[in-house]
Amino acid sequence: MRQPYRTTTVCFQVDPQHPDPRPIARAGATIRAGGLVAFPTETVYGLGANALDSTAVEKIFRAKGRPANDPLIVHIADLSQLSHLAVSVSEIAYRLFKRFAPGALTLVLNKREAVPANLTAGMDTVAVRMPDHAVALALIDAAGRPIAAPSANRFSRPSPTTAQHVAHDLDGRVDIILDGGPTSIGLESTILSLLGDAPQVLRPGGVSLEALREIVPDLTYQPQYLPDDAAAPSPGSMLKHYSPRATVILFRGDDDEAIWAAMKTFAKNHDHVGLLALEKDATRIADLDVEVESLGVDLDAAATRLFSALRSLDSRGVEWILARLPDTTGVGLAIGDRLLRAAEGVVIDVKPRR
Ligand code: TXA
Ligand code: MG
Repeated sequence: MRQPYRTTTVCFQVDPQHPDPRPIARAGATIRAGGLVAFPTETVYGLGANALDSTAVEKIFRAKGRPANDPLIVHIADLSQLSHLAVSVSEIAYRLFKRFAPGALTLVLNKREAVPANLTAGMDTVAVRMPDHAVALALIDAAGRPIAAPSANRFSRPSPTTAQHVAHDLDGRVDIILDGGPTSIGLESTILSLLGDAPQVLRPGGVSLEALREIVPDLTYQPQYLPDDAAAPSPGSMLKHYSPRATVILFRGDDDEAIWAAMKTFAKNHDHVGLLALEKDATRIADLDVEVESLGVDLDAAATRLFSALRSLDSRGVEWILARLPDTTGVGLAIGDRLLRAAEGVVIDVKPRR
């Protein structure tokens, strides 16, 4: 078994829009020296290392306790860095980057030899994105090289949307945490592969399928919820992921009243129940003894709050977390995907009441 990466963690507060160049310069030097820096992006916090240094990349896996078969995303600050990472980048890839970079879109491309094999889990492809966050972009510039970064959580825990989440999971395992406040999107990037017969979404995320289809109308998406060790096209698509300690139970159906009745029945028959709900629904089972985490006014707000709400219910000691699966349009698709993984596929289909 690999030893976890051990270090002393230092945290710097940075303005998310206009980061002070001093902590950024220090963090950039740490990346160049082969260390680990956690930094905010618009999606979630990343745990970064020099993407072109296999020893530094290995530290990411050791710090997270991440299996070696789960490849990392490389973050760039400028499209000119693509040529150091990928070969035969298609015209459609450039069109997608022109439209969505910087932003929450990750493209899977053919990798260059210079990209270390441990970063890509031995595959001949590499995932690349340009984050839309001043701190992330300044850090990549200061480091002077692309930065490999998975989400900065311990393996299989909910992704971090604040520096406090990062510190909770990785204190003593990351050299520097850049605290730029809460992330704005709250769910990870959409991963799109352009290497098969048709463009294929491997993970729904911050950019919706509807938005991508404006450029790639023939896009496909096959939700895959595989057991841990199965061979998957996107190795991180294994089912158990984003898991809080509590058991998550999802409710699916079109009939509002029937859904809430089913949740009420569950809450009456179990102790230590937590509920994730939109603000408009949070009072529905207020008369029951449940811990409620509001997800905000709409699905965009829910995306921002989902992971921190899961962590918060955990810290409040609940044993069960109930939530309703949203529609699969827009950001609802990515929210549903993360909920399904947190629930390890457990869904109660609620029949309409007559
Ligand atoms: O928003 C995000 O994407 C965040 C921020 C930090 O950028 N990063 C992130 O990384 O979510 P991570 O490691 O938690 O998820 C990366 C996933 C892997 O689990 C894997 O499924 C996929 O990206 N991936 C990476 N390289 C790949 C490749 N060459 N082919 C297919 N999938 C790949
Ligand atoms: Mg992750």
